[in-house]
Amino acid sequence: MKVILQRGRLEAFPSEAVVAFHFEGETKLLRETKAMDKASGGLISEVMQSGDFRGELYQPALIYTKGATPAKRILLMGLGKRRDFHLDKWRGTVSEAARFLRDKGVREFSLCPYLRGERKISPEDFSQGLVEGIYLGLYQFNEFKTEEREKIKEVEKVHLVTPDEERISHIKKAVDVAEIISRAVYLARDLVSRPANRKTPSMLAQVAKEVAENNGLRWKVLNMEEMKALGMGALLAVASGSHESPKFIILEYKPPKRGLDTVVVIGKAITFDSGGLSLKPSENMDKMKHDMGGGAATIGVVQAASQLKLPLHLVALIPATENLPSGSAYRPGDILNSLSGKTIEVISTDAEGRLILADALAYSQRTKPKAIIDLATLTGACIIALGENVTGMMGNDEELKARVRKAANRTGEKVWELPLWEEYEEQLKSEVADIKNVGGRPAGTITGGAFLKKFVGEYPWVHLDIAGPVWAGKDKPYIPKGATGVGVRLVVQLLRDWKVGS
Ligand code: BES
Ligand code: ZN
Ligand code: ZN
Repeated sequence: MKVILQRGRLEAFPSEAVVAFHFEGETKLLRETKAMDKASGGLISEVMQSGDFRGELYQPALIYTKGATPAKRILLMGLGKRRDFHLDKWRGTVSEAARFLRDKGVREFSLCPYLRGERKISPEDFSQGLVEGIYLGLYQFNEFKTEEREKIKEVEKVHLVTPDEERISHIKKAVDVAEIISRAVYLARDLVSRPANRKTPSMLAQVAKEVAENNGLRWKVLNMEEMKALGMGALLAVASGSHESPKFIILEYKPPKRGLDTVVVIGKAITFDSGGLSLKPSENMDKMKHDMGGGAATIGVVQAASQLKLPLHLVALIPATENLPSGSAYRPGDILNSLSGKTIEVISTDAEGRLILADALAYSQRTKPKAIIDLATLTGACIIALGENVTGMMGNDEELKARVRKAANRTGEKVWELPLWEEYEEQLKSEVADIKNVGGRPAGTITGGAFLKKFVGEYPWVHLDIAGPVWAGKDKPYIPKGATGVGVRLVVQLLRDWKVGS
């Protein structure tokens, strides 16, 4: 799909469809909508007077202009009530419009990238939100469909038309940013959507390497021997049940400027989580291909950060392995030597994410980071606690958590904090080792976080449990059913704002 920004008047623009917007319950039309109404000889007013369209949130009304305007159709979209309106609803509205037109077979449409005269949101934020909404809403995963490919409907061109000459260069920047971020979300979604036999740790390392080479990043992939030599006993134990060799993927974005802050992003990448010998029930086990959603988002984040040329030093660590049962698999009761030097008693081989993250967290301290952010589909309990739409946040640093909250508000990726009080650590005490990997059923998400905290040391750190939002069970505005790419927009926003307030 191509997004083309141009100066002009929407009502004079020839197009398959023009999208116009309206707030619920208002009689006054928005500027562009009014211009379209006038140019079409009152077709919009007519629909409104008929009572068929009230401007409710995401409500569509399709009008055929029959030659009254250069555009063949006008799609009128409801924005809901003005007082409830915010940027995320805007992303949702344009996404719904784009999907509506795509499903009708429309391949090209036009719209103004912002609501002129609506001052709560800047034209740049409107434009970025609009382009993200369109891209993210139109995402489809068709990699493995070989039949009837001609029936796949796709939008080819979107024209952003604005009369505002002065603003156009700023809007162009916002559009570029949105395209970079959306491409990174697409990358994460594609990786999460792919089944485990098409994204083994080696394949994932290959993708990471390509991302690195295409974006001038440094990269390194540690193989099993190198991990052994380093002493990554926790990661290696998880990998021991599989014939696929584990990979520890390192991507580094380092602009030439000296003295930049170092931020480490760590992503859990279990390319398939069967639970290992603590085998999961077979119902829904296929979904455990998404247990690398943290790693996928991390690759997306470095790609976007480098393309946005952010002024910081970013290190991405992606421990990647399968978690399978076999004669060589690690067992409940085993005691592991982790990279940190701490010994870990394995209670369940299904609590494997925290094991691979323990080694990655220990490794991350070599870079002396200003912040460590980990993204992980860590606990089913997080879905029970917060539901499918919300990321669980835990951490040891108030300022870093505040940065995450701010990025969450800006991007609409919902985050809610859970406490990491010391008492929870009691649940992880082992009689035979330094720590055990499961703390029982109470507060399952928090004890996951408390386990990780033991491997962080003194560095500012935040843990994001994305078990809920990594996968959408149903279509949502700008998030089609399936892999969501959660975490990419959140962390990129945090990194874009890094300098602000530090
Ligand atoms: N990958 C799972 C967590 C998960 C479950 C993510 C469902 C998304 C949907 C993780 O490795 C796991 O199995 N965790 C266990 C931990 C338990 C053994 C302490 C869980 O949540 O049951
Ligand atoms: Zn597991
Ligand atoms: Zn897992």
